[in-house]
Amino acid sequence: MLANLEMVKALLDGAERVVVLTGSGVSAESGIPTFREADGLWRQFRAEELARPDAFAEDPELVWEFYNWRRELVANSEPNDAHLALADLECVVPEFLLITQNVDGLHSLAGSRNLLEMHGSLWELQCTMCSWRNEDRTMLSGVPTCPACGALLRPGVVWFGEALPPGVLNQAIRAIAEADVFLSVGTSAMVQPAASFAQLAREQGAVTVEINLEPTPNSGLVDFALHGKAGTILPRLTGALCA
Ligand code: APR
Repeated sequence: MLANLEMVKALLDGAERVVVLTGSGVSAESGIPTFREADGLWRQFRAEELARPDAFAEDPELVWEFYNWRRELVANSEPNDAHLALADLECVVPEFLLITQNVDGLHSLAGSRNLLEMHGSLWELQCTMCSWRNEDRTMLSGVPTCPACGALLRPGVVWFGEALPPGVLNQAIRAIAEADVFLSVGTSAMVQPAASFAQLAREQGAVTVEINLEPTPNSGLVDFALHGKAGTILPRLTGALCA
């Protein structure tokens, strides 16, 4: 692991174009449960059972209760060393894109700027009927309704089975095609299309690195798989570069 860590550090040192993909594991050390691990349960529900359009159609109160709980949890959390290391890395790499599946906003709070939130944001509200959409960081209770038309509002996040926001996938694919180094951090690589980004990056000539607590389906195909906490590994990779 130490030798691999040194090699990845050297790679990043010389890289002109870096793309990073993050998942919920990057926020775990901020106290935010991941999606598929045991602590991802809210009451008896898995996040996957509630983060879906049919769950919202059936019981908007329950789904909003879940999101209001998550909004409060995130509002009381702070970026951790992994978020901060990625914000530092952006400062030293000429072309850098951070693609995140997370909706918590902690990357931008840590200072990341060139950021693609491919699954939207917990802090966006969007009307289920009209085009009203707005950022709202206040704590909500119950089910909010649209100030323009009175219909139910929903969180501005991409749910299971829904399309990504327009243009997002193309932007990610274009950046991956040009990357020298692709890092995947804190994601189980179970959800498409992000799960295929490592393979795509490899096919397009990037050196690929996975940083995750445990092996994933991508561990065998990446050039370097570093297993451990993102908040420990990332600062060790970026510390000297960004000093
Ligand atoms: N450092 C690094 N990795 C970690 C850490 C940590 N401190 N803690 C947990 N992990 C790893 C876990 O081992 C797991 O493999 O993070 C991964 C989290 O995986 P998931 O819970 O599946 O989350 P994610 O990959 O982000 O899910 C993708 O699925 O439910 C949808 O839209 C939702 O964006 C989400 C997407």
